[in-house]
Amino acid sequence: MATVSDSRLQQQPSQKDAADQNFDYMFKLLIIGNSSVGKTSFLFRYADDSFTSAFVSTVGIDFKDTAGQERYRTITTAYYRGAMGFLLMYDITNQDSFSAVQDWATQIKTYSWDNAQVILVGNKCDLEDDRLIPTEDSQRLADELGFQFFEASAKDNINVKQVFERLVDVICEKMNETMEGDGSPVANHKDPNLQDSPAEGHSSCAC
Ligand code: GTP
Ligand code: MG
Repeated sequence: MATVSDSRLQQQPSQKDAADQNFDYMFKLLIIGNSSVGKTSFLFRYADDSFTSAFVSTVGIDFKDTAGQERYRTITTAYYRGAMGFLLMYDITNQDSFSAVQDWATQIKTYSWDNAQVILVGNKCDLEDDRLIPTEDSQRLADELGFQFFEASAKDNINVKQVFERLVDVICEKMNETMEGDGSPVANHKDPNLQDSPAEGHSSCAC
């Protein structure tokens, strides 16, 4: 079993924290994409099962959730290092956010660990009447980029849990593949020097 841990809990120990230490794996996952596509909302839906229609744009990096605004791009890319998985998010009602997917994918390839896994997420699928991006276009792009693809809604809680779980699954599958591939004893995942972890190491498999 794998549990995605919220770094807030590690930075601010609490009673809840003690229970949350009982996980098998810890992965660093990032949500990236243009401003206002719903990254913060998506994380809140997953972590707190809450949603607000107010838009408070993220400044810089808010834990594993990143800012989509251009002016924060430098610190966002610095944060890519050590991430094992990405949710690359666009808004199905926003053409610009979809057009930017290719650029975000290039950023991931440039700045992240080679084996980082990516899922393309078309958020706000509750807004069907305002849809500008046909599902087939996104599926085609995802296929070209080699990413899995989901449409989702942070507002209506559609595919939120499924997206996170799928990302964790593909990371685990990739880890198994690479461990089997080199035949090294890294299958003992108590080993802090896990060879197939990202360069930063510290934020990867902590079990
Ligand atoms: P930055 O922090 O600026 O990068 O934006 P963000 O990607 O974190 O966007 P945020 O989560 O703040 O959401 C932007 C707006 O979209 C807010 O008004 C949200 O309420 C709204 N929103 C987010 N997800 C959904 C969704 O699934 N459906 C609908 N209808 N609105 C959503
Ligand atoms: Mg945000």
